[in-house]
Amino acid sequence: MKIIVTGGTGYIGSHTVVELQQDGLEVVILDNLVNSNIEVLDGIEGITGIRPAFEKIDLTDRPATLDFFARHRDAKAVIHFAALKAVGESVAKPLEYYYNNLNALMNVLSGMRQYGVHNLVFSSSCTVYGQADVLPVTEQTPRHEAESPYGNTKVMSEDIIRDLMKVQSEMNSIALRYFNPIGAHPSALIGELPVGIPNNLIPYLTQTAAGIREQLSVFGDDYNTPDGSPLRDYIDVVDLAKAHVVAIHRLLEGRNKKNYEYFNIGTGHALSVLEIIQAFERATGVKVNYKIVGRRAGDIEKVWADTTFANNELGWSAKVPIEETLANAWRWQQRLGK
Ligand code: NAD
Ligand code: UFG
Repeated sequence: MKIIVTGGTGYIGSHTVVELQQDGLEVVILDNLVNSNIEVLDGIEGITGIRPAFEKIDLTDRPATLDFFARHRDAKAVIHFAALKAVGESVAKPLEYYYNNLNALMNVLSGMRQYGVHNLVFSSSCTVYGQADVLPVTEQTPRHEAESPYGNTKVMSEDIIRDLMKVQSEMNSIALRYFNPIGAHPSALIGELPVGIPNNLIPYLTQTAAGIREQLSVFGDDYNTPDGSPLRDYIDVVDLAKAHVVAIHRLLEGRNKKNYEYFNIGTGHALSVLEIIQAFERATGVKVNYKIVGRRAGDIEKVWADTTFANNELGWSAKVPIEETLANAWRWQQRLGK
């Protein structure tokens, strides 16, 4: 059974392709490689023994995207990962972010509708909740005004999918709202490939531990949290990848209750930045040189998931302990070297 994976050479996409192939599904990846590398296919093949089909296409190219769907109309579902995702860059380049993320989604939906590929899993984000008043957030927690153009593309994308599903009753979709994906495949054959200076905590931390960066800045210890540093729900990327396989089966087997559903994909546990540093040191035996500095503009204080709905409805839950996730991230960093 063929599954189209847009953005499949990216960080979360590549881990999901591994899980799909290990589940016996056939994958065709579509990516323009704007934020990934073709060598990722070697890693996927190294883990699974199968080299997935790959086509280099820019999803904002509507004729090329429709042509792709015409040739893959036998696919049963699409997992749509492809998007630009750097929050800070999206503030500086709003038009590029809206153009890329929204046109890519609309072209994918058009291709699906036109060629009868009826099932979609979409990468959304807990960013749609902003700083929620009540924690943990459930799927009923109201979405907040997005803090960045990137975040707004997720809110708008969810709305585009919701509105289309109202009139395309033959189509089905699931949006997965990821919390903070981290880690790497335990084989260390695939992982996150940050371009330039990392913005996210874990790649900055592992690069500091590897001596590539001198010091990790901890952005604030004066938040209203137990140790003063912000709280997040860090989800292992392989656990996250597995949630996509479960969502695909739910759609393929018609177990979805509505034709547009959305789920929180997190662990249900909050960890502070300082707790992450301590867990990394415990897991690896490597000390992290860090310094508390001022808050980072735009950061929210705390967010973590209530995963009851995902656990009960999908029969999925996060399994990998945080120390193992951080050890995997470290093994991947060591493989990348300096
Ligand atoms: P990534 O950048 O590693 O992967 C995205 C892939 O999409 C890249 O390979 C890129 O080349 C491709 N792409 C981008 N625009 C494209 C286009 N126009 N045409 C074809 N390919 C295109 O990012 P990721 O971390 O794997 O994220 C995957 C998805 O999950 C994204 O939609 C992202 O917004 C979402 N998400 C990520 C996080 C996170 O923290 N990583 C959190 C929540 C949601
Ligand atoms: N942090 C540091 N130092 C760093 C980097 C991060 O202290 O060098 C802190 C941040 O202040 C925050 C925490 O580590 O408290 C996590 O920060 P990340 O940048 O790793 O992740 P965010 O929670 O800010 O954002 C992530 C993704 C976004 C996504 C959001 C919600 O980067 O794309 O989760 O899904 F929108």
